[in-house]
Amino acid sequence: TEKVPFYGSHQSGIVTNVQKHIYFASLNVIVTSKEELKDLFEMWTPLAVRMMNGEEIAEPTTNSYVAAQDTGEAVGLSASNLTITFGVGPTLFEKSKLGLGHLKPTELEALPHFPKDQLDESYSSGDLCIQACADDPQVAFHAVRNLIRSASGKVILKWTQAGFNSIPVEKNKKQTPRNLFAFKDGTGNPNVNDTKEMNDVVWVQSNESVPWMTGGTYLVARRIQMHLETWDRTALGEQEATFGRHRDSGAPIGKTGEFEDMELARKDSSGNPIIPTTSHVHLAKLVDDRILRRSFSYSSGMDPKTGVFDAGLLFISFQKHPKQFINIQNSLGRIDKLNEYITHRGSATFACFPGIQKGSFVGESLF
Ligand code: HEM
Repeated sequence: TEKVPFYGSHQSGIVTNVQKHIYFASLNVIVTSKEELKDLFEMWTPLAVRMMNGEEIAEPTTNSYVAAQDTGEAVGLSASNLTITFGVGPTLFEKSKLGLGHLKPTELEALPHFPKDQLDESYSSGDLCIQACADDPQVAFHAVRNLIRSASGKVILKWTQAGFNSIPVEKNKKQTPRNLFAFKDGTGNPNVNDTKEMNDVVWVQSNESVPWMTGGTYLVARRIQMHLETWDRTALGEQEATFGRHRDSGAPIGKTGEFEDMELARKDSSGNPIIPTTSHVHLAKLVDDRILRRSFSYSSGMDPKTGVFDAGLLFISFQKHPKQFINIQNSLGRIDKLNEYITHRGSATFACFPGIQKGSFVGESLF
């Protein structure tokens, strides 16, 4: 099937199998009351339902004197597994006119500054997010475009990022996609089909946060530039030592299967650790916290200051509490070998609402 259901106990686009394309938008709201914000989500809900069904947002007009409601570029394309995920950022709760301050979960905050961050405000933060993912790039873009257009005068774009994942298929089975450093990315993820694991890692359980977040999750987005030119000059052995995995197979160093246990404590004959202790995966595994990564590569032209590719990873992770991401990022800290090849340029956190039931609307739990 090419359709992902809109309604359910959780929002789509989180444990949904990762699609090929993303169009991510961070917005600021210019509405001035809680009522107007509620109206916005109520207006958006049926549009999201229709688009995820592969339909236009409204019946096509036959009146040649008016502009069509749906912008039209997704006509004839299927739903393409479109998912639309909505979230709210910390700054929304700080707008006193909206009167939402008392509903802000304490853990919903801008992420702390990490040692090597070089953040650009033009790729950071936002009052709301819309994550549209689909197996067709135009379907993903169309979804965001039509939601923004229908909300004219109520929201403005803060930043956007398009991204892609190319997913190899072997013997009819989808393989782990490779990032722009050519390494398989997603191998160590928790299992999205394991409800218990998802309840432990991703979904906020009752009494774990504010009541309106039960069944929801926190989204962390990091726009991470990857220095392709430096990477491409680096010897294969050094690249593998950077991640602690083999490039081709994705297997832990010294092993052959992608999904074999890392066994971090393994030593070589001289007693040195086989998985370098400064490797990305070693450091990511040092803490007990887990996250669900659902990232996409991006390539957005050239960095005008340096003349190199502005390409990298639109890192997205879901976790029931932002501290899971924070603890892992702190473990990577200054010592991750990967730091030499990447720069974090953008950062945002959003609280993603629980799932929507028929007859209800996106974000209803907040109002
Ligand atoms: C694992 C790449 C940033 C957390 C991995 C792996 C690769 C990778 C190739 C091994 C395969 C896999 O398990 O997916 C990258 C690149 C990054 C990046 C290229 C930046 C451009 C981050 C960030 C975090 C993170 C910012 C979180 C703070 C993890 C975790 C694992 C992992 C938790 C799995 C460890 C395990 O096996 O349990 N990453 N990563 N990564 N990465 Fe990253």
